[in-house]
Amino acid sequence: MSEPFPTRAETLSTGALRPIAEGEASFLAAACAAIDPWRRLGFRPSALARYFDGSDPGLHRFALTLEGHVAGVLAVRWPWLRGPSIELLAVLPEFHRMGLGAAAVDWTAARAATAAKNLWTTVSDFNVGARLFWRRQGFAEIAPLPDLLAAGRAEMLMRRVLKT
Ligand SMILES: CC(C)(COP(=O)(O)OP(=O)(O)OC[C@H]1O[C@@H](n2cnc3c(N)ncnc32)[C@H](O)[C@@H]1OP(=O)(O)O)[C@@H](O)C(=O)NCCC(=O)NCCS
Repeated sequence: MSEPFPTRAETLSTGALRPIAEGEASFLAAACAAIDPWRRLGFRPSALARYFDGSDPGLHRFALTLEGHVAGVLAVRWPWLRGPSIELLAVLPEFHRMGLGAAAVDWTAARAATAAKNLWTTVSDFNVGARLFWRRQGFAEIAPLPDLLAAGRAEMLMRRVLKT
């Protein structure tokens, strides 16, 4: 099967992405741990840093940049369920509503469509803004996954059907 997520820099319709640079994982981890949903779910910076730079061949991780600034992070699990899963997407608050999140999703969908018919993600039930964001990006809510990350909370499984 072809490799849809090459480890090289790519220009997006807004901003750009590239592999996470050496030493950048701890900055991104601290930034994510400080914002919801990870703050509310109790994620520690050390665990997120391992997630960003630990050995995991099925997890394709990128820093998002805007005008030369590190502006977010994208992690895509592939192979997954007849298509990749966007496991983590964070745009740092000072870069919100500039189109970077949508550009990162569009890039992922275009890459995914070379190999599969589905693109998946999950979003915390309390993350109202992100649920609207994902719907706007063409994702439909498929099922709640109760207690997946925290007791009493659900992650919503979301699917975008790709045009291949
Ligand atoms: C959700 C997130 C990725 C969106 O990234 P972004 O770069 O700000 O989003 P975009 O600028 O590309 O937004 C595209 C469209 O999505 C919708 N949208 C984005 N954020 C939204 C929000 N908070 N509430 C409602 N709609 C939203 C809007 O329709 C927006 O278009 P508009 O700005 O022209 O109205 C970003 O807010 C974020 O990283 N949040 C914190 C972490 C998080 O929740 N990640 C998702 C975990 S599943």
